[in-house]
Amino acid sequence: MKVLILGSGGREHALAWAVKRSQRVTEVVCAPGNGGIAQVARCVLVDIKDVGAMVRLAEVEQPSLTIVGPELPLSLGVVDAFQELGYRVFGPTRDAARLESSKAFAKQFMKRHQIPTANYAVCTDAAEVEEAIKHFHPPVVVKADGLAAGKGVIICPTRQFAIDAAQGIFSGELLGLAEKQVVIEEFLEGEEVSFLCLSDGEHVVPLVPAQDHKRIGEGDTGPNTGGMGVYSTSEMLEPTMTEWIMHHIAEPTVRGMAEEGTPFAGVLYCGLMMTARGPQVLEYNARFGDPETQAILVRLESDVVDALEACVDGRLGETVLRWSHGAAACVVASSSGYPGSYKTGLPISGLSLAAQTPGVEIFHSGTSRLGNQLVTSGGRVLGITASGDTIREALARAYEALTQIHFEGMYYRHDIGHKALKQQRP
Ligand code: AMP
Ligand code: GLY
Repeated sequence: MKVLILGSGGREHALAWAVKRSQRVTEVVCAPGNGGIAQVARCVLVDIKDVGAMVRLAEVEQPSLTIVGPELPLSLGVVDAFQELGYRVFGPTRDAARLESSKAFAKQFMKRHQIPTANYAVCTDAAEVEEAIKHFHPPVVVKADGLAAGKGVIICPTRQFAIDAAQGIFSGELLGLAEKQVVIEEFLEGEEVSFLCLSDGEHVVPLVPAQDHKRIGEGDTGPNTGGMGVYSTSEMLEPTMTEWIMHHIAEPTVRGMAEEGTPFAGVLYCGLMMTARGPQVLEYNARFGDPETQAILVRLESDVVDALEACVDGRLGETVLRWSHGAAACVVASSSGYPGSYKTGLPISGLSLAAQTPGVEIFHSGTSRLGNQLVTSGGRVLGITASGDTIREALARAYEALTQIHFEGMYYRHDIGHKALKQQRP
């Protein structure tokens, strides 16, 4: 079968790599792809903001299955458009993707279905913000309603800071686009866990958990990024905790969406804060996480295409996923300046040597090919991903591979997975 993957980041590279390993797959096409994806898939140009262009691509390629990577095409209704024409496509419809594309919708949905989340208020103007903010103790979190590529969440140390942040979101000054709604939210403390599940609209199957490192700086300092690294181990969540999360969060979410007439099929990504009063949902995403997917898929032993097809066909109830028992980690190498502005077009060297490190897969986030030379083309450039019997081994392999890789201004965090290492007995 021919599989089409929409997107161009490390997540899509990991998906293309995993799909290619399926016995049933004869061809992988990725649109638009990147310099690394081109090693495992045929890359074709497409504008992922243009649903019509993606449909025309499907009409040319006639894929047996399409996998949508990023949130933007989901929020624009690419799945609805593909389904209308009879194409088999993995991902939620536009209405179901509102769990990610509108934070106000997600919060109100969680309230309707008693799913644990931080207290909040949805505000549509400055006066409402001033009134609502009186009911929160600083620090308080202000969030733009819509998609903001990780830039829409502001942790505010004072009420005045929050009022100003909300104003900046309404005016468009902060995100470049004026927003009609903001969410004011209680600040939660604890460890974050990315809890991803597959769903066919009715059944839910969890993937292995992962922990992202969102801040640019070591020790979780500095501004938020798309994710600087992630690890995943079998020990991250006790089996009873996984059951609790399934029972109180993942299953009620899928049931609630079905009851409301917008069944959710695809990846349900629950961003959780493990607080003193139990897991609380920080956010939903309607897609695979990046870089979570890189570390999760190297641990998957089952055929990924079988699992994703079961979601499309409503057969997930029969699906059992097999996972490696060890650990995996992904360390992101980024451009100097990211998440602010950065240079692109810088030559990358040492990848083939680095890729020979045992247990290592290198997934490209922002690279392109200039003739024979691989160059940087994004803020996050590479995701050095490694598996091992233990988290210690996986991290050692990823960092060893990184010592071989060079591009001007290459930056990465040296402390990915350190919290997991501390929790391990020596
Ligand atoms: P989100 O886009 O909603 O996941 O938010 C991005 C990041 O902001 C999360 O991964 C958290 O690190 C942080 N964050 C979001 N909401 C809260 C909250 N209520 N309390 C503390 N931190 C939060
Ligand atoms: N790594 C966080 C995300 O994919 O949203």
